[in-house]
This record gives sequence, structure tokens and C-alpha cells, in this order.
Amino acid sequence: MHKLGVNIDHVATLRQARGTRYPDPVFAALIAEQAGASNITLHIREDRRHAQERDLELIRRTVGIKVNLEMAPTDDLRQIALRHRPHACTLVPERRQELTTEGGMDLCGDAYPGLDAYIRTLTDSDITVSLFIDPDEKQVAAACKLGAHAVEFNSGRYADATDESVAAREIERIRNAAVFALSNGLRAHVGHGLHYHNIQPLVALNLLEEFNIGHAIVARAVFVGFERAVKEMLDLLNQ
Ligand code: PXP
Repeated sequence: MHKLGVNIDHVATLRQARGTRYPDPVFAALIAEQAGASNITLHIREDRRHAQERDLELIRRTVGIKVNLEMAPTDDLRQIALRHRPHACTLVPERRQELTTEGGMDLCGDAYPGLDAYIRTLTDSDITVSLFIDPDEKQVAAACKLGAHAVEFNSGRYADATDESVAAREIERIRNAAVFALSNGLRAHVGHGLHYHNIQPLVALNLLEEFNIGHAIVARAVFVGFERAVKEMLDLLNQ
């Protein structure tokens, strides 16, 4: 069975846009749980533009399903993770000017000195660590060496493809990288830019355990309600 991680960041985006108390992403997390989601994902960004520490704290206290904190590998965010102990942390690259996460971490160069020790402090606290990477065997091998439990493949390039041949090539890249990850004992997740009309080919691969989806679900919820938006995505994942 494919698992759905509902990313509630954009509920928080709406709240932050006006500095109000509503809509509350904690409420969205509870509805997602009730609708059958396997986990709640939230990204506390360095500029705190959407999810806040308070959201993580309350979600940890209220929902019963797995909580996955997306974060850049900074000291500040590690302290937050260790304070609230989400079940999982997905480490992502972060650039302040970007609209959303724009690519996977490059684990092969020297962009993240000390990342193995950083990961160890999380895993020592029983937090599952996933690394958001592009679907590339070299990145998977590096994630394995760093001691991650899982990798989340960046599906952004697939989602952005306007040409069918580019989309097909990206699916193939994700398939090959997922096979390689599984054969190396890593769990394979996917996320970014996925919506109701593009997840089917990735579901059909039957290799990806967890799908982390946010923007499309929150956008659909505006018209049909949050519970139905989550259920419709679950139906597509488990058809
Ligand atoms: N996975 C990761 C690592 C992300 O950074 C994001 C965006 O916060 C998502 C999944 C969800 O992407 P989207 O909002 O496009 O569904």
C-alpha cells in the first residue's frame, strides 16, 4: 500500500499571509489523519514563512500518525527537531529567495560538511532520517553512506515537464533510482509538484512507499473541503 504524507504548509501560508490565527494547520492535520493519511509533513523554513515551531509542537501532541519534519540541516532546526521529536526528518536544501524547494541536496560534493554527524544526532534520538535528493544513483549511494534510512526523490522535474518524452525520462530516472535505493536497504519516497493528474505513473511503479503532497491537496481543499481532497488523493494512490 502506498502511504500519503499530507504536507500542511500551505494552510499555514494562508494564515501567515494575514497574521491571523486561522486557518490552523493543526486542524488540517487532524482532518488529514481522520481521512486516512499515513503522515503529516511540515516544513519549518529558516524564514518561517509558513509552518512555525508551535505547529510542530501541537501536531506532535494531537495527531496519532507519523509526523515528518522537513528542514534544512541547520543547528537551529536540529534543536527544534530534538525538542519535539517528530518521527521523521526529511533534510532539504533551502535558499531564502526560492518560491519552494527547487532541487535535491547535492550529497556528492562538499556542500554539507559534517552531515553524517548531523544525521547521527537525529537517528540517535530515534528519528528516522530521509534525504531529499534528485533521482540519481550517485546521490542514493551517498545517502546510504551518510547513514540515512530513506531518500525522497525530487519529482519536481517530472512535474514541470511539458514534453511527454521528458516526463517519460524522468519517470525512468525515478524508477532506476528507487530500485537502486531499495537494493541498498533504503526506503524510497517521492514528493514535489505532484497532483491529481500526474501521480498515476509514479504509483504504477510500485516501488515508492511514501508520497508527500501539499500544494495540490490544499488547493483542491478550497473547493471540496480538506477531508475530501485528502481522500481523493488516497483513492488515486491505492487504486
Ligand atoms: N517534499 C519536499 C521535500 C518538499 O520540500 C515539498 C514542498 O514543501 C513537498 C514534498 C511537497 O511539495 P508540493 O507542495 O509541491 O506537493
